[in-house]
Amino acid sequence: MGRKLTSYNGNDCIYTPIEMARKIVNFINPKGCILEPCRGDGAFTSVFDSMELKYEWCEIQEGIDFFDKKSTNANWMITNPPFSKVTKFLKKTIELGIPNIALLVTINSIWMNGKLNLLKDNGYQLKEIHFIESPYFRRMNGWKQSGFSLGVLVIKKDTSNTTAVSTNLKTGEIIW
Ligand SMILES: C[S@@+](CC[C@H](N)C(=O)[O-])C[C@H]1O[C@@H](n2cnc3c(N)ncnc32)[C@H](O)[C@@H]1O
Repeated sequence: MGRKLTSYNGNDCIYTPIEMARKIVNFINPKGCILEPCRGDGAFTSVFDSMELKYEWCEIQEGIDFFDKKSTNANWMITNPPFSKVTKFLKKTIELGIPNIALLVTINSIWMNGKLNLLKDNGYQLKEIHFIESPYFRRMNGWKQSGFSLGVLVIKKDTSNTTAVSTNLKTGEIIW
């Protein structure tokens, strides 16, 4: 059996620093209601609050399991998901009919037949890849370097055949 590929250090609960969440939300500039399906300690949701954006949230540690969610008003799902559950989170988001998805992940996590076919079969496409420069993470607690590039994947219900790749999400200027 092959080695299981997990996150940087196998930990599913590495929270997003609020400055990074703010950078991502500002960059994506989401319209309409947003779902944070696993808010952790609330980096993204506090940014939504500060920007007066409408949102829904779940967090299993607070007794609200994303997989129990039956419906949503969300137009976007934005999160740093548990790395061992990326496919399940994508499946559930698609099932809920959310047309726009932004995931803070190691970008290699999307290049699997199962995930790509899931998107294709449901009329979704990987539209944008925004790299987050790596050296930044060497300075941060918990966010260990693994050799896998970190970035934000923007996935949309849209079958036009283009994927933009950028290095726009430069966060190195933020000192922690
Ligand atoms: C990598 S952490 C990220 C937390 C937060 N999204 C952030 O950006 O900081 C993943 C979170 O997913 C939560 N989680 C795992 N499975 C879940 C589920 N089924 N429903 C809701 N939350 C879940 C964990 O408790 C953890 O807080």
